[in-house]
Amino acid sequence: MLRLLTMILSLFFAGPALADGVDAALATCWSCHGAGAPPKDPAIPVIQGQHAAYLEKQLRDFRGGERDDQIMSSMATSIRREDLARAAATIAALPWPKSPGAAPAPEPDSVAACRACHGPGFAGGPGPEGVAPRLAGQSSEYLEAQMSAFARGERANAKTMTVVMKALDAAERARLAKYLAGL
Ligand code: HEC
Ligand code: HEC
Repeated sequence: MLRLLTMILSLFFAGPALADGVDAALATCWSCHGAGAPPKDPAIPVIQGQHAAYLEKQLRDFRGGERDDQIMSSMATSIRREDLARAAATIAALPWPKSPGAAPAPEPDSVAACRACHGPGFAGGPGPEGVAPRLAGQSSEYLEAQMSAFARGERANAKTMTVVMKALDAAERARLAKYLAGL
């Protein structure tokens, strides 16, 4: 009888306790990534409303060292491995924060090649290389830094992106970043 009661009680409490764990782990993220608002620091990407599968892969890559960043490699370990999928789904379910937005910029010729994977309006989604991230309205500084990191081989967690970015020069990458941020 006591065993049964303990079992029922543990079933009853397991759900909320686990959810609190994810929410508590995510509470530390918003100081940098912005709570209901875009991040204040343009070097920090918007993650709210980004695709869940993409977010989960990045968190796993930060943890595993496939993607390296001093801050995020340690932040990603603050979420338990078994909670990563749910944490990513929670972040993805939030609305992409409205911002005054970057000024619209002219469309560079090289942008056509990106649409095959990132979507016609750069909202991202499932594509030939897995789930591509939303780029529209992301910080221009962040986008340019990631493109350069791919080109230099410093971000090496997506082979196709390395090939694509190595084929563009720095000026073209800067034009792409400005255009995408302005969408
Ligand atoms: C101290 C500031 C800071 C905190 C706190 C922080 N981040 Fe980050 N985050 C960053 C920076 C800076 C980057 C960009 C890293 C890079 O340049 O590769 C980033 C990148 C990311 C990315 C990659 C996004 C993309 O578009 O590829 C994800 C996902 C992410 N953070 C999730 C989180 C989560 C989840 C938390 C909380 C557990 C968190 N971050 C806490 C600063 C922070
Ligand atoms: C063959 C498909 C494909 C093509 C073509 C492609 N991308 Fe990507 N891109 C991806 C995928 C998939 C990712 C996610 C990589 C990962 O898992 O880390 C990505 C990631 C990125 C990121 C990182 C975003 C972030 O939040 O950190 C940027 C920036 C980017 N792509 C820009 C571009 C631009 C600009 C072009 C065109 C010049 C382009 N991509 C062409 C598939 C593609």
